[in-house]
Amino acid sequence: MRILRTIAEVRAVVADARSGGASVGLVPTMGAFHEGHLSLMRAARDAHGLVVVSLFVNPTQFGQNEDLGSYPRDEERDAALAEAEGVDILFAPEPAEIYPDGFATTIHVEGVTDVLCGARRGPHHFDGVATVVTKLFGIVAPDAAYFGQKDAQQVLVVRRVVRDLNLPVEIVACPIVRESDGLAMSSRNAYLDAAARRRAAALNRALAAGEAAFAGGERDAARIVRNARAVLADAGIEPEYLELRDAVDLREIAQIDGDALLAVAARVGAARLIDNRILRGGA
Ligand code: PAJ
Repeated sequence: MRILRTIAEVRAVVADARSGGASVGLVPTMGAFHEGHLSLMRAARDAHGLVVVSLFVNPTQFGQNEDLGSYPRDEERDAALAEAEGVDILFAPEPAEIYPDGFATTIHVEGVTDVLCGARRGPHHFDGVATVVTKLFGIVAPDAAYFGQKDAQQVLVVRRVVRDLNLPVEIVACPIVRESDGLAMSSRNAYLDAAARRRAAALNRALAAGEAAFAGGERDAARIVRNARAVLADAGIEPEYLELRDAVDLREIAQIDGDALLAVAARVGAARLIDNRILRGGA
């Protein structure tokens, strides 16, 4: 595996691989790798001749009062883990390589960014995500890019950008990887102390309660949300949001008659955690 810092080097390696007939898979990340990240690398490895993983803690998607400064960083460990997955290129640029002086363009997606994490974290968050991901697509020109369903709204935002800007990249969404107690893996789980770590498992249990109600035939959104909220309340967790929305456009729904997204965000101890389930209500 090669660790590259510049766009020019990445372009050269990608062009070389392409001329040899290889397809290219990209896994965008901010590092602090866990099994969730590694599952994306494996999916890309299975499908492509060249696998590029980007490791860039993207400053533009963090708010003023968010955790940019304390975000976990350990490039050496990440490089070893990526290498063990058979990744070809770890692209780990400095901020100035991505945002040189004079940088003035932002990709802003309307609609799906107005709710859930977009409403709570503010518009800069998905603007930052959409802009950096679009840049990575321009830098690597991958055939496919791999994202985790853990960040369900992020997947919808990226899909919207790709469609609206006619970007020639396939977006592959991979399943959520969880700890043994059901907590969705996240780089931010490192912020949890032992007590908060135990409470954090309630997020998944809450979603499971909503899903169980759905599986039992419940189609009323408010009642499903109430089931899920009760589990969080038992664990002493007041969510930032716990909502059931259309899984494609994120509009509010009263009844499930297509695929629905049950999504939660909550501060538990020192971490802001998110998780979700798709409830498949389509025919
Ligand atoms: P990051 O949080 O590092 O996540 C990188 C990718 O790993 C994302 O697609 C995310 O959804 C996926 N992922 C995280 N936890 C996962 C889990 N438990 N199971 C499956 N996949 C998981 O998301 C970002 O970085 C950034 O916003 C980025 C897209 C890189 C743009 O800066």
